[in-house]
Amino acid sequence: MDASLVEKIAKRPAEERDRRIYPERFPRLPSVPAARYCDPGFFAAERVHVFGKSWLFVAHADELPKPGDYLFLDQLAEPVLLVRGADERVRAFYNTCRHRGGPLVRERSGNTGPGLVCGYHGWSYALDGKLVAIPQAKDFGELDRSCLGLKPVRCEAWGTFLFVNLDLRAEPLHEALGVVGEDLGPQIGDGERVGPVRLVGRRSIDVEGNWKLTVDANVETYHVNTLHTKSAALVLDQAATGIFLLPRGHSRMLIGFRKGVVLPFPLPPFAQASPLADLGIYSYHLFPNTSIVYGGTRSFLFLISSWPLSPGRTRYDVHFLAATPAEGPHAEMIRTIIEANWGVFLEDLGNLPFMQRSFEAGTIDGFELGYQERRIYHQHEEIDRRIGGEHLAEALRVPQVLGEWIER
Ligand code: FES
Repeated sequence: MDASLVEKIAKRPAEERDRRIYPERFPRLPSVPAARYCDPGFFAAERVHVFGKSWLFVAHADELPKPGDYLFLDQLAEPVLLVRGADERVRAFYNTCRHRGGPLVRERSGNTGPGLVCGYHGWSYALDGKLVAIPQAKDFGELDRSCLGLKPVRCEAWGTFLFVNLDLRAEPLHEALGVVGEDLGPQIGDGERVGPVRLVGRRSIDVEGNWKLTVDANVETYHVNTLHTKSAALVLDQAATGIFLLPRGHSRMLIGFRKGVVLPFPLPPFAQASPLADLGIYSYHLFPNTSIVYGGTRSFLFLISSWPLSPGRTRYDVHFLAATPAEGPHAEMIRTIIEANWGVFLEDLGNLPFMQRSFEAGTIDGFELGYQERRIYHQHEEIDRRIGGEHLAEALRVPQVLGEWIER
């Protein structure tokens, strides 16, 4: 990131805090239909056109350290597993045996041993997906085993972050990351085995609320002074929130600290971390469902992912990351940071079942967004662009009004 961009990002929170009037020429944001959060048809369209075609952060490389280690990604609409091969590479396959569709794995994580064996009739596959053995093969006559390997799913790594894409024709991950990849690349690192960002904790909870409600809570700070009175509001100057809408539905944000606040987190910093990470909470939203957040220091990072399980239910997944191992001299400090952040997340999530109930009951038709909540509208616009107007009922669309406000 060049120095002029660093300066521009660093200045925006103070500019925003000092703003006295509604921004000149900025459009009044149209009301967002509440049905976008509960309509089954809209949810199905999101699953197909957004989650079925986007690169999705699913795991940290440290979750599969050894050959044979696997994760079953049961939060996806299709049954996908990740497995580390004998060649150390992590691949993704459908958890679907080529005989009659039996499962290769049933648990959410574990180790397969030297290969994947279907639990139904015992067809077995190498860790690279090749079909290697069929019990009582004589009963199948001539069978071209080379065509019966496990069906692959696109899987790519960005440093230690592992992504999948259910669309085999999707663009490469680095293109999809766009400005987020350019900004954070040096901090995330190149190789998953040598990357500077290590996993120190993971928490997951299912929430009664649409997936966008959990995203919305991450991408605006308007709520900080009321919802987080005894936590985040003590250290953050909510009015000093600098927002940048980025191409592809991504966005970045820097919330300044209150005057005199320095967070007491004496952990080793990430190599090449941006000094912006010390100025407040510095974060990115990676469309559609992952926020990458520096926790007020260049030493701690977390990724929050929101997974649509049904129109009214979401899995909220958090990966906590540091440059130092979870165990060792910094273990107590790491535990304290995780607990403090988890407490703030639970404050965010506490509202959502009530909001979802109102949306489903129709006691609110649509909602109004302020200038400081424009990242939410940006997300909605991108969802509609991905779904395509022809797949959307008129009443559920949002007008596209933010085009000229998207910057790099
Ligand atoms: Fe897998 Fe039969 S379904 S071996």
